[in-house]
Amino acid sequence: MDTPICDFVRDYRQSGVLRLHMPGHKGTPFLGCEPLDITEVPGADDLSRPEGIIARSERNAAALFGAGRTLYSTEGSSQCIRAMLRLATLWEPGRTGRPRILAARNAHRTFVSACALLDLDVVWLMPDGARQSLCSCPVSPAQVDEAIRREAPWAVYLTAPDYLGGSPDLASVARACRFHGVPLLVDNAHGAYLKFLSPSRHPMDLGAVMCCDSAHKTLPVLTGGAYLHLNREAAERVGPYAKGAMSLFGSTSPSYLILQSLDLCNRYLSEGYPEKLAALLPRLDELRELLARAGWRVLPSDPLKIVLAGRSRGYTGAQLAGLLRQADIQCEFADLDAVVLMVTPENLPGLEKLRWWAELDLPARPALPERILPPLPPPVRRMTIREGALAPSRLVPVDQAVGRVCADLTVACPPAVPIAVCGEEISPEMARLFTLYGLDAVRVVEEP
Ligand SMILES: Cc1ncc(COP(=O)(O)O)c(C=O)c1O
Repeated sequence: MDTPICDFVRDYRQSGVLRLHMPGHKGTPFLGCEPLDITEVPGADDLSRPEGIIARSERNAAALFGAGRTLYSTEGSSQCIRAMLRLATLWEPGRTGRPRILAARNAHRTFVSACALLDLDVVWLMPDGARQSLCSCPVSPAQVDEAIRREAPWAVYLTAPDYLGGSPDLASVARACRFHGVPLLVDNAHGAYLKFLSPSRHPMDLGAVMCCDSAHKTLPVLTGGAYLHLNREAAERVGPYAKGAMSLFGSTSPSYLILQSLDLCNRYLSEGYPEKLAALLPRLDELRELLARAGWRVLPSDPLKIVLAGRSRGYTGAQLAGLLRQADIQCEFADLDAVVLMVTPENLPGLEKLRWWAELDLPARPALPERILPPLPPPVRRMTIREGALAPSRLVPVDQAVGRVCADLTVACPPAVPIAVCGEEISPEMARLFTLYGLDAVRVVEEP
């Protein structure tokens, strides 16, 4: 597959032209990468209105992902999520009133900031019953179907995979959405690679009409590189607004380093990536088995994550992360229960270290009780998300916050999954969770 952005920048670099333009480093290698860091010089195209090399590269990505249209982001899935929600408000021309989105509660805080910026209403889908982590929010297709009938939302928004690698039954949820004519939007920040499994488990192949992928999370792309995918129907209905929606939330100086990285990734994906993935997966299964035999609980997850819980061996997730770090292994995330290890084919040369660690005879400790989070009562909304986010506010200790209105965008457990969202009344149950996650103060709306 060709790499038009990389080719252009390479030629520009080699031309030796005197750079009397931005950026101020002028191509001098301070970090080393500066010669490749350019701006919109003639021929370099324009990410906000691409007609040349960027348009060609985005078309390459769309072909690889089987999308009706793919747009690059140099500002992560965060930018794509905001744009995707903006496009959802344009789905049915002429529909009026404040747009209402039906969303699973384990949405990343970026979703909440998008709702504040776009003044959207959210009807939250809460998980059925108790769960072990706020990161997961198992919602059933029947629950979504019932909520669509009740709420007539403008869109349904799910996070899949979530931070622990869990996912609702997207194909069945998509069928329910299609039946009601409601677009399904998916935050697939953690799952760009799912397209290249056999068969594909990518949300666009399971029925999402739009989704974001953080290319940088699971593919060999620089931090910030992401895709917004539109299926064919979305490309027809809202495609003409898509670049405008991305520009609304993006910088006017997109990084050409990240654009080159996305461009080069197209070639990487087209040259044997599915085979590399297929070769990696059995290695990960072996490692999971080894870790389970060593006494760690291996939680179900998407194929490129290994999620380990150690309470039965006496370790919290954070303590387990500490043990791994002592062995020179850095996890992606750890909380009170589990650690999340994210693996890609680029880890293959180093994976022996994890095998070696799994075989270590670590000291046994008294088991810690398994922790189940009590179901949270449905949140009580006292202001819109936007009003709560923009209201004058102050920081108060958690024990004085109960009954007050949350003014933090989200009060979140790591990694940015909300316990409380701005505009909601802080309940005693929320306050108990703040304390459990080590928060001692939260921002509340000033009362007159
Ligand atoms: C589930 C989820 N969605 C969205 C985001 C935002 O993605 P990005 O960092 O690419 O902007 C993250 C970031 O960690 C995430 O975990």
